[in-house]
Amino acid sequence: DLYGPARKNSEGLDLSIKAVRDDLTAAVARLDGESLKGAPIVSGRLLTDGEGAEARSPAELSRVIGRTWQASPRQVDEAFAVAREAQPGWDALGGEGRAKVLRAMGDALEAHRERLIAICVREAGKTLADAIAEVREAADFCRYYAHLAERQFASPETLRGPVGETNQLQLHGRGVFVCISPWNFPLAIFTGQVAAALAAGNGVLAKPAEQTPIIAAEAVRLFHAAGAPAGLLHLLPGDGAVVGQALVSHPGCDGVAFTGGTDTAWAINRTLAARQGPIVPFIAETGGLNAMFVDTTALREQVIDDVLLSGFGSAGQRCSALRILFLPHETADALLDGLKGAMRTLVVTDPADPRADVGPVIDAEAKAALEAHVQRLEAEARVLARLDVPAGGHFFAPTLAEIPDASFLGKEVFGPILHVVRYDPARLAEAAAPLVQARYGLTLGVHSRIEAFAEEVQRAVPAGNAYVNRSMIGAVVGVQPFGGEGLSGTGPKAGGPHALLRYAVERAVSVNI
Ligand code: SER
Repeated sequence: DLYGPARKNSEGLDLSIKAVRDDLTAAVARLDGESLKGAPIVSGRLLTDGEGAEARSPAELSRVIGRTWQASPRQVDEAFAVAREAQPGWDALGGEGRAKVLRAMGDALEAHRERLIAICVREAGKTLADAIAEVREAADFCRYYAHLAERQFASPETLRGPVGETNQLQLHGRGVFVCISPWNFPLAIFTGQVAAALAAGNGVLAKPAEQTPIIAAEAVRLFHAAGAPAGLLHLLPGDGAVVGQALVSHPGCDGVAFTGGTDTAWAINRTLAARQGPIVPFIAETGGLNAMFVDTTALREQVIDDVLLSGFGSAGQRCSALRILFLPHETADALLDGLKGAMRTLVVTDPADPRADVGPVIDAEAKAALEAHVQRLEAEARVLARLDVPAGGHFFAPTLAEIPDASFLGKEVFGPILHVVRYDPARLAEAAAPLVQARYGLTLGVHSRIEAFAEEVQRAVPAGNAYVNRSMIGAVVGVQPFGGEGLSGTGPKAGGPHALLRYAVERAVSVNI
């Protein structure tokens, strides 16, 4: 039963409880007494050769949190060789044996939750609320993929055939998977990819985003302690163009799972296409040009709450985030007034402060790209509201702007900038045309009390995850399998019942007695 209730998601922590806030504040303070390390882990050894580079908090550039080291070509070769040796034994363990390790990892994540939350806050600038969700989702991925491993990989499926012949379909790991993960979910997506590849019986070489190797190193140590063999799972941090390229072009790579920008997905796809040897699967989850369509029957307060969270939550640094809000001509002014007022209630501050709604963006490059986009909005469109932000970190003012139509944006803009387009819900197809032409297909929102309208929007704008009368971020493992189509990704969906199959090979065995 892939869909059933034999599984429970993690409960997380409730920030409205003072004792929880105090614990987390104390965990951040404890972490500040340490010098953290983000370095390659090959065969269980943390490799801190040479000086490395200083890591600073995106929320406070004067705060040095530790040091980071990049993987060398020799370490990449060694990790492939060792993982290849270890993989058959792991595959032979079967779905149930592997599920035990993944469940232990889910428990370990919860047992070390305060520290992991603190690292997400300091290294990635996550608010406490977002960091709590990171750990919760990481644990959910481990347990969900354990559940799938037990059901799909524990014993071969017996198929019908002639009398006297046994026909079985077996699933096995492909070999060594390369997992390349983003900084915006530095624990959840990192852990989710690794857990999926391991669940299906693979060895793993994981490359975290260059901005967030520290939390990844922490996760790999926990995986090893939970029982993933040190020879099976290795961490190879570094720049995408160097270490990512070395991993993907390596003859030892039997598959790639990638989450990040569309441009990088194209680059990986080209590298894989140019390789000789086995043709390997590429699982990509990329960006979106996500829209929400509101009609005149929508409930004003609910629209405002959901838009605020979808557009500005996590500083807009989610691939699922709302980028273009379509408001009907008739109610647009009233909704925009409400939205501007609600924006002023957003607390943009130090993400370690429990009151923070919005923290910094990840780095100077991200901030510069957003600034350039706002300049374009000021020159060619209309900026409706911008908030004040603290100095000293990569904070970027949440911005509301009106654009003439969706063709103004050909590409994803990754940050807290929400674009509004006025439209006529009776001429939906016309308003949606530029979106459809852009060929993304990740998330979609609708606010309407009319079911037929919600369905019409879903037919007009293809998307992997549609949300009606609610926010459009925060997909829950096993509840909202997550991932898009077109420019937004290849599937299978993370946290869904089909997630593991592309990580596996199928072998049919027919035996006559
Ligand atoms: N899974 C995340 C979300 O749904 C992705 O960005 O928000």
